Amino acid sequence: MASAEELRQGAWFRNAVFYEIPVRSFYDSNGDGIGDLGGVTQKLDYLSELGVRAIWLLPFYRSAWRDEGYDITDHYSIDPTLGTLDDLDRLVTDAHAHGIRVLGDFVSNHVSIDHPWFQAARKDRGSPHRNWFLWSDTGKEFSRTRIIFRDLERSNWTWDETAGQYYFHRFYATQPDLNYDEPAVRAEMTKIARFWLGHGLDGFRCDAVPYLFKREGTRCQSLPEVHQFFQELRSILDAEFPGTVLVAEANQSVPETVPYFGNGREFPIVMHFPLMPNLYLALGEEDPRRIRHVLQATLPAPHGCGWAYFLRNHDEVSLEQVSDDEREMFLWIYGRYPRTVLNGGIRRRLAPMLDGNDATIAMMHALLLSLPGAPFLYYGDEIGMGDRLDLSDRDGVRTPMQWTSEENAGFSALPVDRLVRPPVTDPNYGPAARNVAEERSRLGSLYHQIQQLIAIRSANVEEFGSERLAAADAHATSVLAFWRDQPSARVLCLFNFSRATVTGTVSIDPELRSAPVLIAGDGTIERQESNLMYTLGGRRYAWVRFVRPVPPLGTPAAAPPESSPSR
Ligand code: BGC
Repeated sequence: MASAEELRQGAWFRNAVFYEIPVRSFYDSNGDGIGDLGGVTQKLDYLSELGVRAIWLLPFYRSAWRDEGYDITDHYSIDPTLGTLDDLDRLVTDAHAHGIRVLGDFVSNHVSIDHPWFQAARKDRGSPHRNWFLWSDTGKEFSRTRIIFRDLERSNWTWDETAGQYYFHRFYATQPDLNYDEPAVRAEMTKIARFWLGHGLDGFRCDAVPYLFKREGTRCQSLPEVHQFFQELRSILDAEFPGTVLVAEANQSVPETVPYFGNGREFPIVMHFPLMPNLYLALGEEDPRRIRHVLQATLPAPHGCGWAYFLRNHDEVSLEQVSDDEREMFLWIYGRYPRTVLNGGIRRRLAPMLDGNDATIAMMHALLLSLPGAPFLYYGDEIGMGDRLDLSDRDGVRTPMQWTSEENAGFSALPVDRLVRPPVTDPNYGPAARNVAEERSRLGSLYHQIQQLIAIRSANVEEFGSERLAAADAHATSVLAFWRDQPSARVLCLFNFSRATVTGTVSIDPELRSAPVLIAGDGTIERQESNLMYTLGGRRYAWVRFVRPVPPLGTPAAAPPESSPSR
């Protein structure tokens, strides 16, 4: 069993599967209708069985709960509805005993309007906290800053009667932005990070990182000062808590996202926002070329770093990184239902977006799990949970985890009408149709397919944990093919984006003399000299492994193949 110290060592995350948990929606351990930290602890066996090696907990700090905990009112305590510091300590200890790391959410851009810092600042111009926020007499500054919650807010400035000035907010008006030009703010945030790492957290997913600094005449995102702040924070945390993992949520274009690695000095992990919408578009078009292009522009990550890939998360599917035409196509394919579109994106879960088709959901997970970097799963996607478009904002993708077929989803001891949010009711996706208990007991279920994929990935960690990915030509427009390799073996990953069965060939390095072995997925494969002939059903995938001959002792190892994909 790994000790906490061992868990911190190394770039372990390239071999780990992460799992995102909105704590309030996962499991209610104390019967008040709200999921809590104790509930996560109780489900560690489940997570471990699934093969998860790290969990990312959505904010669990004291909060006004107008934005799922991203509106903090006290950074140094746990929200009483979610538990106590002792509960967190127990969760961290038990998670480590399961070989699972625990990441918190570092919400540094803003606080709740109810936070004592903001309350003091708004009431008194002479308060030491006044300069912790951004004020204006006109509300006209930083006019090039885009509005992120564009369906919900009309401006990034809101007039505050008590303060007699406007204050700046990048998100909801109930989330005033902090002023990072104020040294005390930077010092306080560093102190907060230290506090939680001191409680054993292994790192943070860092919320909304591009927006910390504002400069007139710019778009107020990804400014050099942002990189400087996080590089300084990283070096402090590395010295005091070696191996701390910081994951950047930087929802930016490729050229603006890559610098968040800071050439190995900033974020060890960066969320790959540009790739995600392209995965869905490629499915709709039955053509994966766009995926190859994005990977080509972003691989490999600098040494010691890795990309984080995801299919879904607790927000809407963000379409900020695609062109207007692509957005239109996306909405046409996936946004047909009324009330689906939010802030230009789509507030749906994975399963309903893919018409509840388990084979497609499994293929998308297989792709996620075969890319070089850290795959992030969203709770409930492993059982094909659905959503509720009748709930406001993004609440419809944060419904109670479906543990059993009971009406309240086995999420709590309370009846359905007393839960933090109502469970899914759609008969195709609700607890009766999709739940952990049933899927665990049925061989071949979506749960088992995903669990098996994770297990196979972990068993072939040398290939899948490496940074190397080399594109292959599958001689079929709908098939994405690439090699993941190590000196000792190569795995060929094939994904058919078409609904129809496809037959094709991939040429094989003649040095690979072993027979191909299908280690995951289905279809048929046959080696003919230096070609692999394959047939893949519609939206099916295959992972095919070849063993390299062991060179005689004393022979220098062959040079590794190209690490970036080619068109
Ligand atoms: C989080 C959102 C949140 C926003 C403001 C985002 O990036 O993922 O859920 O509403 O930051 O904190």
